[in-house]
Amino acid sequence: MSSYSKGLEGVIAAETRLSFIDGEKGVLEYLGIPIGELASHSTFEETVFLLWNGRLPSRDELDAFNAEIRRRYDPSKEIARLVMEMPGSGEPMHVIRTLVSAFGLFDPSPNAIDLPSIRDKALTLLAQTPTILAYFQHHRRGTAIVLPDRSLSLAENFLYMLNGKRPTPTMAKALDVCLVLHTDHGLNNSTFSARSVISTESDIYSALSAAVGSLRGPLHGGANEGVMKMLGQIPTVDSAEAFIQDKLARKEKIPGFGHRVYKSYDPRASYLKVLARQLAEDTGNRDLYEKSARIEAVMDREKAAKGIYPNVDFYSATTYHCIGLPLDLFTPMFVVGRIGGWSAHLLEQLADNRLFRPGVLYTGPHGVRYTPMSER
Ligand code: ACO
Repeated sequence: MSSYSKGLEGVIAAETRLSFIDGEKGVLEYLGIPIGELASHSTFEETVFLLWNGRLPSRDELDAFNAEIRRRYDPSKEIARLVMEMPGSGEPMHVIRTLVSAFGLFDPSPNAIDLPSIRDKALTLLAQTPTILAYFQHHRRGTAIVLPDRSLSLAENFLYMLNGKRPTPTMAKALDVCLVLHTDHGLNNSTFSARSVISTESDIYSALSAAVGSLRGPLHGGANEGVMKMLGQIPTVDSAEAFIQDKLARKEKIPGFGHRVYKSYDPRASYLKVLARQLAEDTGNRDLYEKSARIEAVMDREKAAKGIYPNVDFYSATTYHCIGLPLDLFTPMFVVGRIGGWSAHLLEQLADNRLFRPGVLYTGPHGVRYTPMSER
């Protein structure tokens, strides 16, 4: 307990084989495969298989994995009822955190943490998180829920349940790519939270609800909603520069920029930038992309020298908007993708567990006399 690093910056606290990040060169790999290759050629389901098994599946294995996920799309009646009892005014991130926790109430063996049990529970959460979000969206709008369609992939099925019609292949592919890009990312704050909780030999529901709570913070996954709100405050493309300069002059941080690990361009942002541009063009949202590009140009001039570039959240905001997602479902989409990575980390942690228990630098007084109430 001799070294101290505020925010654990630079501290290596676990080993992983799942994702590799080179923050200087802007590299991200899952099991050694560059993220761009997975985004171009894989699917979300295949990427989760890769992370959970340490290798790509054969055709038969992937078919079986897909079938197993689809078989679990429908939530139990208890979970479905709970979604319908959530206050419609609640934020979806609070709803999803509450529901992830509630799964433990209806699981006959909620505390089982042997690896097959963790995989089994993780599969259910992976398959049903989109259903819960879609049901909640209908519940708060007062529209009829759309039951899952097991003939569809996870991304297609989510958009189908949300909108009541099959998405176009372009939209389904765009969402699927977003999920792949968001699946894992080293020992980020939410993954660390999940690993820390499971290291006490607690349960998957406690670990993942802690992770959801961590992810919603504006310094972490909540930034994608912050980006969209900021874009909404900028009336025209030409006013973007003054808006950003004003924020920087007030020493405010620009959501969607900067990263604890990347000091060069986040490779996920490079991919999302191209996707956002294409979708914005296709959906009549060109202004949104142009505003984003203008913000990036200002930030490049002002902050690139300090290693501050767009992160994954910056262009995912435009992408999600063009896919037609409501603003407060942006961060929940991050949850849907990251459940794959969090679960992989739980399996990895439990396979070679050691309780997380860092030290703390005490800065308070010593030997203080207890003052009786009458003397205070
Ligand atoms: N806009 C303007 N300046 C910034 C930004 C930003 N987005 N990010 C960092 N800086 C500046 C800081 O003001 C600071 O400047 P200073 O040295 O003059 O004081 C310097 O860069 C270092 O900033 P820190 O906050 O110490 O860097 P850290 O490594 O802790 O930050 C973080 C990483 C928290 C992500 C930060 O960049 C930030 O708050 N970004 C905005 C929120 C965001 O987009 N979060 C999503 C991250 S990706 C993810 O979690 C999925």
